[in-house]
Amino acid sequence: MAYYYRLGAIPPKRHTQFRQPDGSLYKEEVVSSKGFSGIYSTLYHIHNPNEVRSIGKPEPYSWKPAAEYGLNQTHLKTSDVEFTGEDYLSARRNLMMNSDVMMGICSPRQRKMDYYFKNADGDELIYVHDGEGVLYSQFGKLEVRKGDYIVIPRTTIYRFEFEEKGPLRLLIIESQGAIETVKRYRNEVGQLLEHSPYCERDIRPPHELHIEKEKGDYLVQIKKQGMLHQYSYGHSPLDIVGWDGYLYPYALSIYDFEPITGRIHQPPPVHQTFQAWGFVICSFVPRLFDYHPLSIPAPYNHSNIDSDEVLYYAEGEFMSRKGIDRGSFTLHMGGLPHGPHPGTVEKSIGAKATDEYAVMLDTFKSLQITTDSLEFVDKNYPMSWTE
Ligand SMILES: [Fe+2]
Repeated sequence: MAYYYRLGAIPPKRHTQFRQPDGSLYKEEVVSSKGFSGIYSTLYHIHNPNEVRSIGKPEPYSWKPAAEYGLNQTHLKTSDVEFTGEDYLSARRNLMMNSDVMMGICSPRQRKMDYYFKNADGDELIYVHDGEGVLYSQFGKLEVRKGDYIVIPRTTIYRFEFEEKGPLRLLIIESQGAIETVKRYRNEVGQLLEHSPYCERDIRPPHELHIEKEKGDYLVQIKKQGMLHQYSYGHSPLDIVGWDGYLYPYALSIYDFEPITGRIHQPPPVHQTFQAWGFVICSFVPRLFDYHPLSIPAPYNHSNIDSDEVLYYAEGEFMSRKGIDRGSFTLHMGGLPHGPHPGTVEKSIGAKATDEYAVMLDTFKSLQITTDSLEFVDKNYPMSWTE
């Protein structure tokens, strides 16, 4: 959800005759959310989107919480992982989950998908930690690059083609509720306000249509209720000649997030970038530190009594933590205080700026770490505040 946008050919009036060069009608499809009360887009297909050729056997596709993991401040060290699997779907390693959200990493060996994917369970937010490429979807072509957050509304049919060169590392968040811009930064008609850390100019929707007209065999893998359903079509799902509306995938670069700073330490809400049911996403970016003459740039100890806090460390030096690498996750569970490591508070005094990049996920329900994450657990982390 960003703003009204349109690409390609659409008829002047909705739900009216719109004909192809051979005289047949284009097939109109309204993609709507919250029944008909939420955002929606209207798409015009060459072929009928319901024209399914065959349905294969569904495959299980879900993650299990690690039983008896316990209450532990957690550091997952995933920095050394080069590949997490063969392709975009088999390489997804969800590391933490609750009933609202799942978060994990994905570094597929195969850079180009030879099928389409549709997530019918939730919206996706993909942070491109390393890599660049193109997202091809029904809504068109969107160039993606390092540092991008890509918001993909549920049921968008898409495939990625990433460049073969360099590392590819994606952080993937799947949300049960819609992933949206932050409500308090929007005015009554949805425009981002002057004090928002980013605005519409920073949001990149698909920039041109990508129309696949050829008939053939097209596989769409659909994630729904913990299964991957195999749907085959005789035409490409990317047969859209035009669309308009508010529902479409878009990118926002973390490098375009403008930090809010203050004389004394600013709390995480100033870093908020997105909202969803049951969690928020924040971006920590290079910024000047606090400028009160007696300020302490390092954060204070914090008791998050009813939320769990995840930080994914993307780039730079992490002033308040020791032993954290690029690609580390920390999970500070509600019920225990957490704070800067010993020595880092004094060391931070007088520091003028930070060059860190990190993505934060704060959930309101407790998170469970999954069995996939156990191999990455840093066993020393819970005691790392004790010298
Ligand atoms: Fe905290």
